[in-house]
Amino acid sequence: MKIFIEKNYELLSSKAVLRFKKILESKKVKNIAFPTGNTPKLFYRKLVELYKKGKIDFSKISGFLIDEYYPMKKDSKDSFNYYISNNFFALVNLKEKYSLNGSNLDFISECRSYKELIEKKGGLDMAILGIGENGHIGFNEPGSELNSRVRLVELKNTTLDLNRAKYEAGPIPRYALTMGIYEIFRAKRIMLLASGKSKSERVWDFLNGPISRDLPVSVLRLHPDIEVIIDKEAAVLIEDKIMNLIN
Ligand code: F6R
Repeated sequence: MKIFIEKNYELLSSKAVLRFKKILESKKVKNIAFPTGNTPKLFYRKLVELYKKGKIDFSKISGFLIDEYYPMKKDSKDSFNYYISNNFFALVNLKEKYSLNGSNLDFISECRSYKELIEKKGGLDMAILGIGENGHIGFNEPGSELNSRVRLVELKNTTLDLNRAKYEAGPIPRYALTMGIYEIFRAKRIMLLASGKSKSERVWDFLNGPISRDLPVSVLRLHPDIEVIIDKEAAVLIEDKIMNLIN
């Protein structure tokens, strides 16, 4: 595991871009899973800026959106499809873009198709992830099976309360479609991002707590190729002890 602690959100985002660019240039990645949320916003903006300057190329990359509310129209401003399209997918030259469709009433076949698509493409080479304040990854909430696959999940009240602030129209959906912990963990490499004090306890738990279904992010500690990029606020509880944890 590599851990980078950056001074602030701006530098965290720059570091993530730098690392990501290097990984892209290694040509070892094709299929990459991308998250939504507040954390990667500046990361995406910086990637788009680099792309516009001709300094980064996504033409060999297939992008996979990690999750989506359910039910949800693709073009709704609250959809994760809208977010990823407007912050990243539609602004760069990705070879292919895939996402879960929250408006498919047959969610079972929607999930099966996404699972099979990921398999057919040879699995994920990389997953970029944020951490939920309750320790979720994607929308794999506490209690998720560690071998869970792409599926419909019921969101926890903690997630709904936090996400309501980012949600514009009507009541926030109680359900979501998400890649499972299995698909995420099988990615050949992981980049985990966390910013701000509100993430500090989960970052601490991730590094020190038991590996358990109650904290889905904890399973990533077992991943053979994970880099964690956080800012000082998110690292506030671990900074003193970090040297002992890096292996
Ligand atoms: C979103 C996703 C979530 C977020 C997590 C952190 O697509 O998969 O797991 O990464 O909820 O969200 P922010 O970055 O808004 O704190």
